Amino acid sequence: MSDSDCLANNTVVDLYTDLAANPDKDFGWDKGLANAINHHYRKEWLDAVPDSVWQYCAAVGNPFQLGEFKRADAVLDLGCGAGVDLCVASLLVSKEGRVSGVDLTPAMVELARHNAVRAGLNNISVYQTSIEKLPFDDASFNIVISNGAINLSESKEDVFREAFRVLSSGGHLYFADMIKDGNHQADTCCNAESWADCVAGTLKTDDLIQLIRAAGFVDVKRVSLTHYKTSVSTIGATFRASKV
Ligand SMILES: C[S@@+](CC[C@H](N)C(=O)[O-])C[C@H]1O[C@@H](n2cnc3c(N)ncnc32)[C@H](O)[C@@H]1O
Repeated sequence: MSDSDCLANNTVVDLYTDLAANPDKDFGWDKGLANAINHHYRKEWLDAVPDSVWQYCAAVGNPFQLGEFKRADAVLDLGCGAGVDLCVASLLVSKEGRVSGVDLTPAMVELARHNAVRAGLNNISVYQTSIEKLPFDDASFNIVISNGAINLSESKEDVFREAFRVLSSGGHLYFADMIKDGNHQADTCCNAESWADCVAGTLKTDDLIQLIRAAGFVDVKRVSLTHYKTSVSTIGATFRASKV
């Protein structure tokens, strides 16, 4: 089956609409507060953001370990889901900073807006859109983050090109995502469900790095592997890259 047969946006939206409505349901991958703790999200963030928000944490790694987030930074989260990382970014950039999130799934966008209010954070804006075409001017942010979302895109070239465009000069891309596990490449099947489950859309490290470089980024690096699994053939990883 070719990748074009895997185009699975409807299935992605269905799955994450289900997660938005049923945070306790077992989807076959880790989530919630325990997941955040496993990725070493700091205790001060766990304390500052309500558990009712952390329950939606579908992180596959921790982008906040990949670089410095400062007061007054402008941060964009690609595929923000229910907004857990938006809340952490908001705490880090403080009131002088601003945080934006985009997500394809309307229920997640609504939830992320609601969760920002629940957490008492008022510098967060959330937009319903694809990460492949962003509704922001060039150079609008100095940090772009993402967590478990880029593998779900059908056009990763566009995602990295847009991330590069909206970053200002000297800005950074910090993200966690699922990649193909070099030790188990043969058994990645390709259908809409496995795409939505962060399996079929994954790439090998070298292919991902090549796409990031092709978009114009420099100092592109896979920083670490995480413990996260969505199948035997995939593994979580973190990446960083910069715009000169
Ligand atoms: C595994 S969840 C991760 C959510 C969040 N980053 C977190 O760490 O909890 C993936 C999210 O990416 C969103 N997504 C998938 N494909 C997308 C696309 N092409 N454009 C925008 N969002 C997308 C989904 O709707 C879902 O909310």
